[in-house]
Amino acid sequence: MTSQFEIVEPPVGALPPRARLRSTAGVLPLDGRWQFSWSPTADTGKDPADPGLSWDTLPVPSHWQLHGYGSPAYTNVRFPFPVDPPHVPAENPTGEYRRMVRRPADWRGGRVLLRFDGVDSWFQVWVNGAEVGRASGSRLTVEFDVTGHLTGGDDVLAVRVHQWSFGSYVEDQDQWWLSGIFRSVALLHRPEGGIDDLWVVAEADGSLEVTAPVPVSWSRPDDVQPWSAEKPALYRLLVSTDAETVSLDIGFRTVRVDGDRLLLNGKPLVFRGVNRHDIDARTGRAVSRERMEHDVALMKQHNINAVRTSHYPPDPYFLSLCDRHGLYVIDECDLETHGFQPVGWRGNPSDDPAWADVYLDRMRRMVERDKNAPSVVMWSLGNEAGWGRNLAANARWARQRDTTRPIHYEADEECESVDVYSWMYPTYDKLEAIGRHAEPALADPARDHRRRGLPMIMCEYGHAMGNGPGGLADYEAVIDAYPRLAGGFIWEWADHALLRDGSYRYGGDFGEPIHDGSFVVDGLLFPDRTPSPGLLEYAAVITPVRLALDGADLVIENRWSFTTTEDVVFTHASGKVLDVPPIAPLSSHRIHHPAQPLDVTATLDGRVLSRVQRTSSAVAAVVETGRPTARPGHLGPFPLAELTLDTWRAPTENDRFPGWDAEVSLENQWRAAGLDRLLPSADGRRHVPAGLDSGFEVDYRWSECGNALRLEVDIERLGEWRLPLPRLGVALALRTPDPGSTVFEWLGLGPGESYPDSRAAVWHGQHRLTVLEAQTPYVVPQENGNRSGVSWLSLRSPSGTLRIDGDDPFHAAVRPWSTTALETARHADELMEGDVLWVHLAAGVTGLGSASCGPAVRPSAQYRAAHVRLGFVFTVG
Ligand code: GAL
Repeated sequence: MTSQFEIVEPPVGALPPRARLRSTAGVLPLDGRWQFSWSPTADTGKDPADPGLSWDTLPVPSHWQLHGYGSPAYTNVRFPFPVDPPHVPAENPTGEYRRMVRRPADWRGGRVLLRFDGVDSWFQVWVNGAEVGRASGSRLTVEFDVTGHLTGGDDVLAVRVHQWSFGSYVEDQDQWWLSGIFRSVALLHRPEGGIDDLWVVAEADGSLEVTAPVPVSWSRPDDVQPWSAEKPALYRLLVSTDAETVSLDIGFRTVRVDGDRLLLNGKPLVFRGVNRHDIDARTGRAVSRERMEHDVALMKQHNINAVRTSHYPPDPYFLSLCDRHGLYVIDECDLETHGFQPVGWRGNPSDDPAWADVYLDRMRRMVERDKNAPSVVMWSLGNEAGWGRNLAANARWARQRDTTRPIHYEADEECESVDVYSWMYPTYDKLEAIGRHAEPALADPARDHRRRGLPMIMCEYGHAMGNGPGGLADYEAVIDAYPRLAGGFIWEWADHALLRDGSYRYGGDFGEPIHDGSFVVDGLLFPDRTPSPGLLEYAAVITPVRLALDGADLVIENRWSFTTTEDVVFTHASGKVLDVPPIAPLSSHRIHHPAQPLDVTATLDGRVLSRVQRTSSAVAAVVETGRPTARPGHLGPFPLAELTLDTWRAPTENDRFPGWDAEVSLENQWRAAGLDRLLPSADGRRHVPAGLDSGFEVDYRWSECGNALRLEVDIERLGEWRLPLPRLGVALALRTPDPGSTVFEWLGLGPGESYPDSRAAVWHGQHRLTVLEAQTPYVVPQENGNRSGVSWLSLRSPSGTLRIDGDDPFHAAVRPWSTTALETARHADELMEGDVLWVHLAAGVTGLGSASCGPAVRPSAQYRAAHVRLGFVFTVG
């Protein structure tokens, strides 16, 4: 038997979608604690008329899995149930929600609507036991008219929510499966003669068109300035009838595709964006307003100018923040059917006429709700839903309904229905080819011609999983070089790990039979919202004011489209403010032969936008060869427990995958070469893995000069090698009771970690952190904390200080645990400090790349030396 939630249909009993408006008419929020009863199957045995007074309670909005009912589950592509649309498993967890509602006495006349902003995934509504309607579309608003159901006294509102429904087949986004009423619920008064809907089109030339279903009055704001993410000028528009006044914050702006250019207000629109999911480590997709405000503030602080609402429309409050603070938005429909890919796209709803109404309903609900948001500059049909007639129909409908916004959808590969060409994770070569209009041709010449003439965006790139992404500066250089390229959106804004018992959990941690592990932990923000080094790198790469050296000149580039640099302060490290005339948008200024050494910072309201340095090359330590001596038992205050060759790193998430342009992951290449299992020969000189004949020969030479000890190390590769090395150097194990609190100071790049393909956000100077602070707490422990360009470092413990000077700048990582411990731990809280401080000193390291979803480490960031000589001087500081 087919259950109601397996019937493929748009909401039943619901009102047509309409704009989100602030109004003088009454609103009664219904958020708070509701009575709640949970059942592992759809048949709950509960009567919709039962007020459930003896049941448990559950907060609305929330997910029941995060309150002890059922468990979160994570899959990326695969459906966690048999692919048998529109049917769902018998085990269909179901929540029964109840609360009493009372129509406010002062809501005279008119209608009363019940509005849900997000219920996952299918629900049915009753008042006093009488059915009102049913709906799916988890991240889409739906309203029901309950006027005739409300008595004026206490009425029983019942909502039954099923975890699985036909709708689950079109909501297969890469995220946790979480259910329940997770966005706000409200009762709305709609007075007779009120303004149910409104459409405002405000263009950059100041034109304003207001369309309403009833005669309305309004007055034009005076002297309007255009809206942009740089200058989000908003004007309050009041629109009235006798019965109601609604208000909207409108922005005057024009988005246009002009040939192969994407333009905003006639100027290039280049997305320096992120993909944002609703996610919070404690509350899942039930995201508080404070969390959204904080996220938007963080985006602005990190130079981000755009958000793709992957992969569904956000809470409307988020869009109002984008309007107010200035972020360009690609608003994406709640449609993803990726789980049909593993079954050869058989039965994909995107091309099945039986699903046409459901598709169209979803598109309409997004466009109608969000059509007045100035921040929304593009509609996206959805994500990874294959291609088919229903998506084409959605594009046709949206284009006819809204002529002011281009349409996006990445999987419309031939750009049959969209206005911009879109890619996920292209390699640099592909991106460059597209920039040059030199992408491979489509079979149909007319279609090829049209697509080749469109602007291109990367709706996803720079996969921020674990340590990375590396190579962002190279992407930016390609974007800069070709006006056809309108930028992109990093995947993704925040890690999705969920906090449980003090630990950040990911796929598999909740006993899921099928899951995709840590693929859900791929954000620029850690789950507690601390910016990762990846976010700092991105902020530096996309800076609106770029400082660069060109020969002996300093070049200042203003990359804003609408803003001069008049508010930017350029300061030399000496404190002297540079006299720089305001630089016009999209132009640059050259300072010939500025004073050397050069160290200039550009700040806006005290925030660093960029920094450029030309420091005199590091002064080599005085290299005196002293009296040869045996390996010492102590280095300064620290007993020396071990000195080893160091060629391994705890693989990063990016090391684990081959990436688009390689066949074997770095980790597998490294393991095949035995880098993780080198065995020293009896004399300690040769290090070769069992079963192989290629390895390393190492020669250590200790000497004494006065109070200093000197170590020279020669490392030579033996045999056949074709692969880049994770690192090449030595590791010292120093005994100390509390290694994490050792004070680590260094002269080199910092204060954050850096790698050959991720070093835009660090600067040369003297930096100081505790060893624990120098660790980057990736949710899945992995290589982290590398400091580059180090001339010297010092380690201070209560028993004294050791200083290490390099003959040449080196890479350093100091850790309160070993590489093996870092590699073995699967969650950050499994890492335990011992009584050893590990000091890793390397001549070179390999970069990060983005191979977990994208290109591998670029050749320029691969470390391949065959022979190195390292020299260090150890002194007691
Ligand atoms: C993309 C997808 C995203 C996410 C990403 C990998 O293909 O659109 O939702 O799954 O890959 O993290």
